[in-house]
Amino acid sequence: MAKAGAGIPKRIKATEETPPQAVGCTSFGRQLPKLGRCKQRGTNPNLGIVLKDGRIATVSFLSRKDSALELRRYINSLIAENVYLVHDKKYSLKEQKEWKRNSLHAMGKGGYYHIVARVDGKIAGTTDARRGRLKERNNVSLGLAIAKPYRGVGLGEAMLRLDIETARKLLKPKNIWLSVFAPNKPARALYKKLGFREFAVFPKWMLHKGKYVDSVCLILKR
Ligand SMILES: CC(C)(COP(=O)(O)OP(=O)(O)OC[C@H]1O[C@@H](n2cnc3c(N)ncnc32)[C@H](O)[C@@H]1OP(=O)(O)O)[C@@H](O)C(=O)NCCC(=O)NCCS
Repeated sequence: MAKAGAGIPKRIKATEETPPQAVGCTSFGRQLPKLGRCKQRGTNPNLGIVLKDGRIATVSFLSRKDSALELRRYINSLIAENVYLVHDKKYSLKEQKEWKRNSLHAMGKGGYYHIVARVDGKIAGTTDARRGRLKERNNVSLGLAIAKPYRGVGLGEAMLRLDIETARKLLKPKNIWLSVFAPNKPARALYKKLGFREFAVFPKWMLHKGKYVDSVCLILKR
């Protein structure tokens, strides 16, 4: 289990080393990150993903260097698009700064991390993992979103694979799970492809575009 006081993980660098066969896949470089070293706070490990269209995404843990303004632009673009995410109200800069502060604080404590992918320096996608509370602590839930201009070229799949691998290393979960809006076909196809299976449905749970839709819980098969 990640120790309390655990900090930002170790350096990983793989962009230049990414082998050609890693198209649409993550390359983990030398090693995956480790929590547990507060003194490493401030380092921002990178690894590279070669996308199906040849672009390179660089991936790193959320850090103080990520600007709230840019994070806000990214999340607000998804909200404006009204994708199948729980957020429905655009973030103000103040709220985004607060989100960043809280997220970095939670990452420092362990039990949570947030990963940011960039293409040509712009935020292209994010993924995260969160430990449950108390007796649910060994159940880790994942989140994933890719900005519109970067979809369909393997980034979502690579990010989710990376998230699963990272969660296993850092959080040592008993269960890895996530929830998805029932009509979200691309996400459901991706989760199925990576080995998630349905284990619960919350009927008419999410209010999306004025209609209630089911929320489906999926668990990763071992
Ligand atoms: C769902 C999402 C993460 C997929 O990311 P992506 O980068 O476009 O997906 P990839 O290019 O890596 O595709 C991986 C797999 O996802 C599935 N997929 C992706 N787009 C799809 C589409 N339009 N229709 C059906 N399946 C699709 C396929 O199984 C695909 O595998 P394949 O290429 O072998 O067919 C992305 O569409 C997204 O962020 N949407 C908005 C936010 C969201 O819905 N997040 C998930 C919340 S639970």
